[in-house]
Amino acid sequence: MKRDFVVIDDFSNEEIIDILETTNRIVRDFDFRDNFQGKRMLNLFFERSTYTRLSFEMAMLQLGGEVSNVIDIQSTSLSNGESLADMAEVVSRYGYDFIVVRHPWEGAAQVMADYSRVPVINAGDGSHQHPTQTLVDLFTIRYHKGHLNGLRVGFCGDLKYGRTVHSLAIALARFGAETIFCIGLPGLEMPEWTLERLNRSQTRAVQIDYGESVLEKVIEDIDVLYLTRVQKERLPKTVDYGSVKNYVLDAELLKKAKSDLLILHPLPRTEELPRKVDSDPRAKYFEQSNNGVPVRMALIATLLGKLKPKRQPNTRVLEDKRCLNPQCVTQHQSYLRAEFKCLPEQRFSCFYCGHLL
Ligand code: NCD
Repeated sequence: MKRDFVVIDDFSNEEIIDILETTNRIVRDFDFRDNFQGKRMLNLFFERSTYTRLSFEMAMLQLGGEVSNVIDIQSTSLSNGESLADMAEVVSRYGYDFIVVRHPWEGAAQVMADYSRVPVINAGDGSHQHPTQTLVDLFTIRYHKGHLNGLRVGFCGDLKYGRTVHSLAIALARFGAETIFCIGLPGLEMPEWTLERLNRSQTRAVQIDYGESVLEKVIEDIDVLYLTRVQKERLPKTVDYGSVKNYVLDAELLKKAKSDLLILHPLPRTEELPRKVDSDPRAKYFEQSNNGVPVRMALIATLLGKLKPKRQPNTRVLEDKRCLNPQCVTQHQSYLRAEFKCLPEQRFSCFYCGHLL
């Protein structure tokens, strides 16, 4: 039975630690090359990407494998109305060992995984999750802090459309973060589905609204600051990007922060992270980005080699309702049935995009 990596909850904490440890081995002394000769990866990037795609590509090349890329949705049969399900059925029989997919619809990678014969890795599905970036972030945090539990983490910026924050916040809560501060912008706060998931763990998730001094108040208390850009391409047409004022990390703010604060950003950055911060020893975002290659090598090696079959998949129940998230893949692919996960207190979340019913 194949394993997919679509959401961060597809891997247990032990499996995640295993991948981080494999990454350590790869960074220290690596020679897996022979094991991956003749293995083939298909990159399906139906949304813009530089770092994620290239780091997957380099990871596979470093492992000695081969790569095919499709990066323009207009050049594929999807633009003729073909379904994601059919595309997954067809290309997964061509001899690729696994498929990496990025798509603007939330839950698109889950659909590909459901219909693919080979493992599917989610490289970002709309505003939903970005689980491989989460592995990179966790590796960087663990490297510097030595552990993942008990941390006080501030997520700052566009927490609504920034998929990296959703999967990382969920993972850190699972590993026992002490507090997760959600320092959002008005209208771009952490979504309810993510908060619900965080609040099911022992972690305190604190939603903090935008205000001039908010980051200033929190910054002295936190161990990790995770900044994000405003996801311009996902803002509704009614919102003018120019009018959205993000937090800017400046020298004054940094003076108040702990001396061992870890400053992370998934990149690309915009004005929230001025270049002046680069020379601060607490700035680790370029290192974080560099970790993308060895972490993805470890992930590929794990998926192709030694991950055991999935435990019972999350219960999927059918309801006569549909998910209301306009970006959910079920709103775009009419053959998909509405499926939900049962949550405590008789709540349901969409199986594909995670939004609460
Ligand atoms: C992030 C993404 O694509 O979600 N970037 C990345 O994977 N390197 C964050 C972003 O685009 O802002």
